[in-house]
Amino acid sequence: LSSFSSMAVIVSMALLLLLVKSSSAQLSTNLYPLLALSYFSTVKSGVQSAISAEKRMGASLLRLFFHDCFVDGCDGSILLDNTSNFTGEKDALPNKNSVRGFDVIDKIKKQVEKACPGVLGRRDSTTASESAANNNIPPPSSSLSNLISKFSAQGLSPKRHDCLSGAHTLGKARCISFRAHIYNDSDIDNSFAKTRRANCPSKSGSGDNNLAPLDFETDTEFDNYYYKNLIIKKGLLHSDQELFNGGSADSQVKSSC
Ligand code: HEM
Repeated sequence: LSSFSSMAVIVSMALLLLLVKSSSAQLSTNLYPLLALSYFSTVKSGVQSAISAEKRMGASLLRLFFHDCFVDGCDGSILLDNTSNFTGEKDALPNKNSVRGFDVIDKIKKQVEKACPGVLGRRDSTTASESAANNNIPPPSSSLSNLISKFSAQGLSPKRHDCLSGAHTLGKARCISFRAHIYNDSDIDNSFAKTRRANCPSKSGSGDNNLAPLDFETDTEFDNYYYKNLIIKKGLLHSDQELFNGGSADSQVKSSC
């Protein structure tokens, strides 16, 4: 994935996520004057250099946006550490030992402050919620109807759910996230399950952090292999394969290939 296309992916996905219902009440475009051009170029080069240092970082930043946006809109709440007033989102189940990219965001923030001191910025959240992150972000064990309902709670239609799930064309998941699918589910290709089992032991606690690509074909390219893999029953997560499992999302998956 070239730095430019990674950037385009992140920006377009982030824009899609901005459709999340509650975000509109929190952000004001008036806070961004014309000088925003300098802001965007600083952010773009920060993201590009993070991705050249580590290809997977594009995927990780994209997921960071998703998890931020699903808790009270895209307001940076995921970046906040715990305080005496609240337990934040970093320790929530979907995020702990899993969401990455905080260092990159910190670094870019400093670069923006240096390039455009005191001029640009966004009204970030001053509070965060571990329980809202646990409730709002769907786990990989989710059924299709759970996924649809979690997305619907954010004002996102089933079609948007299908499309946004295509982000799993990038990045990796830990064994703990896909163990149940490769050992217990029947809607999975046998040889694919066998390959994944080789690096993800069945015993809970053993090899939990071993990684596998979400898209076994091309996990650093933004393409439609995510959907093609689902059709041949090679989705990595239980929740991925739910999109093509004889249910209402099947036709959308087929037309995305
Ligand atoms: C539809 C419901 C979704 C579920 C259940 C889900 C679940 C997961 C899980 C369990 C992982 C692996 C985490 C780990 O093992 O550490 C993951 C990774 C990822 N997710 Fe999702 N996800 C969903 C939707 C999305 C959406 C909407 C986006 C972005 C638009 C997204 C972007 C990503 C990316 C890029 C990765 C790889 C991150 C990396 O390599 O660091 N996911 N997701």
